[in-house]
Amino acid sequence: MPNAKAPQAIETNDQASTFLNGKNSLTITDNRTGKQYDMRIENDTIRAMDLRQIKVKDDDFGMMTYDPAFMNTAACKSTITYIDGDKGILRYRGYPIEQLAEKSNFLETAYLIIYGELPTKTENEEWVYNIMTHTLVHENMKKFVDGFHYDAHPMGMLICSVAALSTFYTDAKNIMDPSCRKLQIFRLIGKMPTLAAFAYRHSVGRPYVYPDNDMSYAGNFLNMLLKTTELKYKPNPVLERALDVLFILHADHEQNCSTSAMRNVGSSHVDPFSAAAAATAALYGPLHGGANEAVLNMLDEIRHKNNVPAFIKEVKEGRGRLMGFGHRVYKNYDPRAKVIKHLADEVFEVTGRNPKLDIALELERIALEDEYFIKRKLYPNVDFYSGLIYQAMGFPVEMFPVLFAIGRTPGWVAQWEEMLLDTEQKIARPRQIYLGHDTRDYTMMGKRTQKA
Ligand code: ACO
Repeated sequence: MPNAKAPQAIETNDQASTFLNGKNSLTITDNRTGKQYDMRIENDTIRAMDLRQIKVKDDDFGMMTYDPAFMNTAACKSTITYIDGDKGILRYRGYPIEQLAEKSNFLETAYLIIYGELPTKTENEEWVYNIMTHTLVHENMKKFVDGFHYDAHPMGMLICSVAALSTFYTDAKNIMDPSCRKLQIFRLIGKMPTLAAFAYRHSVGRPYVYPDNDMSYAGNFLNMLLKTTELKYKPNPVLERALDVLFILHADHEQNCSTSAMRNVGSSHVDPFSAAAAATAALYGPLHGGANEAVLNMLDEIRHKNNVPAFIKEVKEGRGRLMGFGHRVYKNYDPRAKVIKHLADEVFEVTGRNPKLDIALELERIALEDEYFIKRKLYPNVDFYSGLIYQAMGFPVEMFPVLFAIGRTPGWVAQWEEMLLDTEQKIARPRQIYLGHDTRDYTMMGKRTQKA
């Protein structure tokens, strides 16, 4: 959606009537033919299909738009997440991220994102019960994870085990049955931490830990990651809450790469586990879920805060980027980065200060005063401080995108269900501009000439 509109803008009747009065329209003149076309403007948008009437000859295909990477194309209407990148605003179902991070918890926020409203006490109890009683995975899943090489990346293992869920729950393909969808949503949100923890335990050579449903969602995840010989693992409450807040901050971010993958793959009407595996794969990429690891590597390279001015100079000369700065949508301070910066102080009180924090603070201080960064509207994004917290909490860097995937799961399933119920949606299938050969005849192998 264009960022200028709030989610309620999905109601279009008033605008339709204004269009009939001739106000909400765009007139396009095709200079090839001199013909004029009147297009309805709805939510500051014209419909790409309306352009197809623009033709030079009757048998022309008609006009399309060319938009690599979907820089300016709204592929859906949504009422879930609102972002105003210029003002640094992020809201789930209208609630500011800052309020949710302060007052809500991850499962309550997940309910809000999926069902559109905050739960009542009874709804919340039922919801938490349903998620926490779907945390166990089939015993065969352990054998499946055992099959991975000892140094397999946990994100690679997670992609495969999420996809494997579809083989255990074959009923999941009944995607048009609302009660079936509901069950798969419980399963995905419930089992994601278990699969993530199994991947981690396999990579460190420790036995898998079964979920403990008496604990909180984040507490149980820490239990499955870190429990050793104690009878009952007790997470540190500050770290448990910090992890829960980090999950809230990652829960949805409208039509990002992994969410678009979930929608696109889901639009073929495959089961949600297969679609979520595709979304997890999209998140694995360093341009999406892997940037916080790059921030840590950068801080390691800089080594000391005294080296920051020299590093900034290199960045300005085009030799490298300031990782964790800049965002395709935010042209202001990423609101999630603000919350994380505050959270870092609480975490470091428990874990001890991550020595890299001083370098990060100095980088931020210098960059925010520097004309290069000001002019380009480059501010810290969510990844600038999150890696420092994860590292202080003892997570290896390979686990960073895995944590992101757990947090993003409610967003994926909410967007998937919204797509399925949207009567305007069909199987996703972009167009192309074909610039290859025109028709030509097959040449027998003996007659082909060697290319230079
Ligand atoms: N450091 C230095 N310069 C930068 C940075 C940066 N981090 N980001 C952008 N710029 C500069 C570019 O060089 C360009 O300058 P120019 O106009 O002189 O050529 C200008 O700012 C615009 O940059 P683009 O690359 O066009 O911006 P885009 O919106 O395509 O990129 C991106 C956004 C990929 C996030 C970019 O800012 C970046 O690479 N940041 C560092 C990596 C990072 O932190 N990624 C995490 C994003 S958050 C997330 O995915 C969860």
